[in-house]
Formats: sequence, structure tokens, C-alpha cells
Amino acid sequence: MRHHQEAGQQLNPLLPGYSFNIYLVAGMTPIIENGPLDFYIDRKNGMSGFIINMTVQGRGKVFEGDDAFYCNPGDLLLFPPEARHFYGRAPDSPDWYHRWVYFRPRGFWAPWLQWRDQVNKVGRMTLANETLVAEFDALFQQIEETYKAGRRSSEELALNLLERLLIRCFEETPENSNDPIDPRIEEACQHISRNLAADLTLEDVARHVCLSPSRLAHLFRDQMGVNLVRWREDQRMILAKHLLHATRFPVARVASLVGYDDQMYFSRVFRKRVGSCPTDFRRTSEASPAPCVVPDEFWGGEAGIAALQENDPFQESV
Ligand code: FCB
Repeated sequence: MRHHQEAGQQLNPLLPGYSFNIYLVAGMTPIIENGPLDFYIDRKNGMSGFIINMTVQGRGKVFEGDDAFYCNPGDLLLFPPEARHFYGRAPDSPDWYHRWVYFRPRGFWAPWLQWRDQVNKVGRMTLANETLVAEFDALFQQIEETYKAGRRSSEELALNLLERLLIRCFEETPENSNDPIDPRIEEACQHISRNLAADLTLEDVARHVCLSPSRLAHLFRDQMGVNLVRWREDQRMILAKHLLHATRFPVARVASLVGYDDQMYFSRVFRKRVGSCPTDFRRTSEASPAPCVVPDEFWGGEAGIAALQENDPFQESV
């Protein structure tokens, strides 16, 4: 597995104290009345990434009082960053099994992350029939298996399956057919992604999409769930991980390709977001089975990377 934990940290994502400082974690939480997991998940300020979850057995309860609602098999929930988490087994149900995926989204996923039906920012949807429930259940399972397989590209393959899951959720919500994400925000994302190495300011991006900086900041946060600077940092880390993983570029070069002139600063941000420093991250990924390091020439050096960032669909995937 490619997630890196510090010594002494909680290693079981089902228990409180686990650090979700990574890009994708998937699991299933089997809550049985009076069992070890029979407690309410209570995260007042939510998490820094998104969570999607699906009830597969029994009944869950989300929130309390007027906001309370229940989820049954085939119900999906989407918690955006910082939305409160408060959920557990419904008191009238002997169990609640739910599958879940924690993730930091890729930039162009934004349109699939705006769910219509929301309670306290938590998106909800219900699958219309058993066939769909089976399909979605299998997708969740595949994501979990893929991410846990410990192969060199497990995380990327799991993200790829997750993208499919999010698109399917979007497709299966009839109200989603109109009113897509604001095209200026989509363009802002593309513009930032194409220029990750440049230090674009909020003003630069605002000018590019013909909005005032304050309007852009507001709309961006509204539609993407995080602010623009934080979003770019996530995209930079995704690209940095990819470059560390697939090239032999020195860390300083990776840093500058993703927009950090100061390697030390880059390493600090990387460590904070990914959970290990860039060299350890690279060492671990090299030590994993089926290494397939892409030779530098493949990238065509710096010019190749620049071209990639300009034209290649790969760039859209970071
Ligand atoms: C587990 C919970 C699950 C999800 C993940 C992120 O502990 O059981 O619902 O919130 O954490």
C-alpha cells in the first residue's frame, strides 16, 4: 500500500485517530449493535477531502434533531471537505454496513461533485433499482480491492474507478441533466492545471475568466468546495507524486515543475499533504512490486513536460 503513516499513528481507518492525509482510502465499515465499531462517527469540521459512502446493509442515521435522516441499502452520501460528519447505526437497526471512499478529487471532477439534494452540505441520492445497487456495490468493491492491491499504480487505478463511480452517480441523478458547473470555474481549473508551474495569482486567473477576483474566489469555493489556492496545491501534489513515481527527475526538478522554486518548502508541503517526504515517497514506490519507471527521455525533458502540460490529456488528469 502506498499510504505512509508516521510511527504511533492509528493504522486502522475504521477507528478514530487515523490520519487521512492521503489521496484515496477505501473501505467498508461493518457496524453491528454493541460491536467494536458501534459508535457515532463525529467529525465536527469534516475532513479535508471528500467522502462518498453507500449503505449496503441495515440502516444508518445521519445528523440529529431536525436535520436527521436515515440511509438504507442503495442510498449514497457525498460529504464535501469540511462538511460535518455525524453518523452511525440507526437505533432501530441491528446493523449498518456501509462502503466508503475518502478522496481528494482531480480538478475536472468538479461537475460530478455538486449533488442536488443536500442536507447540511451532505449530498444524497438513492439508486432506483436492484441492478443499479449491484453495479455500484461492485464498483465500490473494485475501488477498495484496487487501492489495497499494493501495486505500483494502485492508487491511480483506484482513482480511475472512482471517477467512473462519480460519473455514474451523476448520470443516475435525473435532475443533473441541466445546470452544469459554471463554465468560468471549469475554465479557471483548466487554466490553473495548464500552468501549475507558474505562480498565477488570483487576479491572473480572474482576468483570464473575466470575473473580479472576489467573485472568482467566492464562486470557486462555492462550486469546488475548497479555495483556489488549496485546490491548486492539491493538483500540484498529484502531479508531483506522479513525477516522483514515473520519472527519475531529482526532487528539485520535480519541485520546480510543479511550481516550487524552493525545494525545502516543496518538501514541507509534500510531507504535510502526502504524509511522507518526496524521497521516502519515491523509495517506497520504487520498492513496490512491478516497478516500471518511465525513462526521462520518455517525457522529453523539461520541454516535454511543458508540452504535456499544454496539450496532453494527462494534464487534465492531475
Ligand atoms: C471510517 C468510517 C467511514 C468513513 C471513513 C473515512 O472510520 O467508518 O464511514 O467515514 O472512516
